[in-house]
Amino acid sequence: MNQENPSPGEGRRRGPVPGIRLKLTVFLLPLVFLLVILIAAAVTKITDDAIRNDLMQRGVAISRVVALSSGYSILSGDRLAMDRLAAETKNSTGDIEYVSIRDTENVVLAHNLIEEHGKAYVAPEPRKALGTFLETQAYETMRGGKELIEFSTPIFFSGKRVGTVSLAISRDSVLAAQKSIRKSIAIAAAVFLGIALLGTFVIASFITTPVKQLSSGVNELSTGVQFTPIPIRSRDELGELTRNFNRMAETILSQKNRLTRYAKDLEESYIATVRVLAASIDARDPYTLGHSTRVAFLACELGRKLGFSTEEIEHLEKASLFHDVGKIRTPDDILLKGQRLNLQEVEVMRRHPDEGADILRMAPSLHRYIPVVRYHHEWYNGNGYPEGKKNAEIPIHAQIISIADAFDAMITSRPYRRALTTKGAIEEIMRFRGTQFSPELTDAFVRMLQEMPPMEAVSADTAGRRGMAL
Ligand SMILES: [Fe+2]
Repeated sequence: MNQENPSPGEGRRRGPVPGIRLKLTVFLLPLVFLLVILIAAAVTKITDDAIRNDLMQRGVAISRVVALSSGYSILSGDRLAMDRLAAETKNSTGDIEYVSIRDTENVVLAHNLIEEHGKAYVAPEPRKALGTFLETQAYETMRGGKELIEFSTPIFFSGKRVGTVSLAISRDSVLAAQKSIRKSIAIAAAVFLGIALLGTFVIASFITTPVKQLSSGVNELSTGVQFTPIPIRSRDELGELTRNFNRMAETILSQKNRLTRYAKDLEESYIATVRVLAASIDARDPYTLGHSTRVAFLACELGRKLGFSTEEIEHLEKASLFHDVGKIRTPDDILLKGQRLNLQEVEVMRRHPDEGADILRMAPSLHRYIPVVRYHHEWYNGNGYPEGKKNAEIPIHAQIISIADAFDAMITSRPYRRALTTKGAIEEIMRFRGTQFSPELTDAFVRMLQEMPPMEAVSADTAGRRGMAL
């Protein structure tokens, strides 16, 4: 965006404006985060359920097998078989805490712990029923500080209930498995979030990079610096937009170059006209023939000494050619009068800076020369005309032309006075140092003249009074 030419809307902005990348990130990341959390929660729930179901099915199956296997032993009183069954069942997997076989009176007939034999079975409390699977009831409970799931299956033999098997499986292994899976899911979710963050940046960059390039291209076009076509990196809508922008920029640049050429041609044409006009004015009076050209030469030389840029020197040259263009409107009987002018005639003569400004005002491309033309007869101390400006109020180019104009007038003859030598003119210029002319410019001008070959008078045959140029 062009910082130098903000639009009215931009003027109200304060502080940094969030870019598209930040907006996309702020919009997409919460969505991705929510999605990842939901997926992780769903996967956790599914795996938890699967682990729990596996435990339940295993517990129910083992309990039923023990119940089926112990019916005959109860009836036959084969306690040894029951003990072996309880012990082998307990040892079959590491997470079975106990196996208890009891009769219908709730007396423990077999247990993996011998000391429990003959005791009344006491169910662990508190217990929470988890449901009945076939005829096996499952409870969530605790014993000895361990979380357990107890499975109780009635024992039938020949259709008659003869006892109950209670079998408890520790939940530790299940909890460990759940913890391990949850940890894996959390790591996977974090990795996925990281990838999503990176992906969001990549997507945002994919969109914002062409937009930034387009913005930069618009800046190049608007600021007039050399435009470089934006590379087309995709075939999608952004690529099409970039292609169209490049075409539009080429058209604008082509039109701009054509208009610039036309404007330059027009200006050169107008300047040529004014050159002719200035030469014609100089030629109206044989004593001022070539005056504007000499003033332009002296002014440009002084500009160079002062370190002006090429552009400023060109400006100074054209302004010098135009400086007396207003004299086109000065009547011949005053302009060509071979004697001193009376007060009324001086008044008419002194209108030429304003007349010159009026002429230049007709061409917008020459407006920049108006201040110089208008103020080339102002004095450093404010005693000049038309406005009585002084010091820095007078444009520097006007001050330079003022010295060059006066010097050229002195070294050329007039009907009413004889031309001065370069040396004499320098002395005269120095006499007006600090009054008519800026002290610094006077010193620089004199130094310049002293380094140049003497510029003797064009015509020195006419006697007359010395004075400054009008
Ligand atoms: Fe003048």
